[in-house]
Amino acid sequence: MQTKIFNTSDPDLLKASQIIKSGGTLAFPTETVYGLGADATNKLAVAKIFQAKGRPSFNPLIIHCFSIEQIQSFALWSSEAQTVAEKFWPGPLTMVLPLLPESKISPLALAGLQTVAVRMPAHSVAQSILKLSNTPIAAPSANPSGAVSATKAEHVISRLTGKIEGIISGNSSKVGLESTIISFSPQPSILRFGAIDETDISKILGLDFKEKAKDPKISAPGQLSSHYAPKGSIRLNSKVFRKNEVSIGFGKIVCDLNLSREENLIEAAANLFDYLHRLDDMGAEKIAISPIPEEGIGIAINDRLRRAAAPR
Ligand code: TXA
Ligand code: MG
Repeated sequence: MQTKIFNTSDPDLLKASQIIKSGGTLAFPTETVYGLGADATNKLAVAKIFQAKGRPSFNPLIIHCFSIEQIQSFALWSSEAQTVAEKFWPGPLTMVLPLLPESKISPLALAGLQTVAVRMPAHSVAQSILKLSNTPIAAPSANPSGAVSATKAEHVISRLTGKIEGIISGNSSKVGLESTIISFSPQPSILRFGAIDETDISKILGLDFKEKAKDPKISAPGQLSSHYAPKGSIRLNSKVFRKNEVSIGFGKIVCDLNLSREENLIEAAANLFDYLHRLDDMGAEKIAISPIPEEGIGIAINDRLRRAAAPR
């Protein structure tokens, strides 16, 4: 398959949106990570996503939309959803909602579930593609299944060229970590830690979340314990690096790659996946990573690192 590369000019975005409309797969930047999108109402298009990623088909996809009206055509909207949307959308937050019987979303995109994960992205390129193609877009992160998510066009180009119809080479994803996933039923839960801190969501809803993301058995179906994995083995919380290791540091220390010399967790999140990609490109066999503070977006960074280091 020939993969077309687009830039972010208006004529190119229009051509790229034609790929979605005609049932193809298109990688595009969002503020969290690159997404691999297809028309969520077209089952053949959705099947192409699973094929390109080599993804287990039981794993449901996030449905991206540009308006609440669009979401209300297939998901049951609630006052809690409205409160959360007003505060955090467009942005790096995904809500799992009950599916409406009249939904036209392909059951394949939902892995047959009666719930649907929805997100309204803040990135201007993602918004343009959603508006121009005028359909909900199913989009997992644009990486081969189990591998590190892509935060730059070059990560996608090197790993998915020949497997998908198009890639938009836009500015890189600023947040660098996937969206936080919450669900409201049967009780309010955090299914995946991410860019938005759970305490900020708890505050505006006035309730506490159950942290299902910490329970390997009942978190989001896609939260396999080994995930985001570079090829080399990973040693976490390393205060001292060994000679045969490629070192990823945090703070003012000597290391091969530094997530943030200033100990800024936001900067560390934005660098994380790019560094994990670089380790593969370098052929790193042993990797050691400094301790990262378990606070704010550091909770999501540590979650990704534990999965990257998990036995495979
Ligand atoms: O930031 C993001 O969320 C990125 C960008 C592209 O939007 N997308 C992303 O998608 O991370 P993906 O497919 O890599 O992760 C989606 C996660 C999976 O863990 C999946 O199991 C979960 O969402 N999920 C999807 N639908 C669900 C549902 N109905 N109930 C529970 N979890 C669901
Ligand atoms: Mg992913």
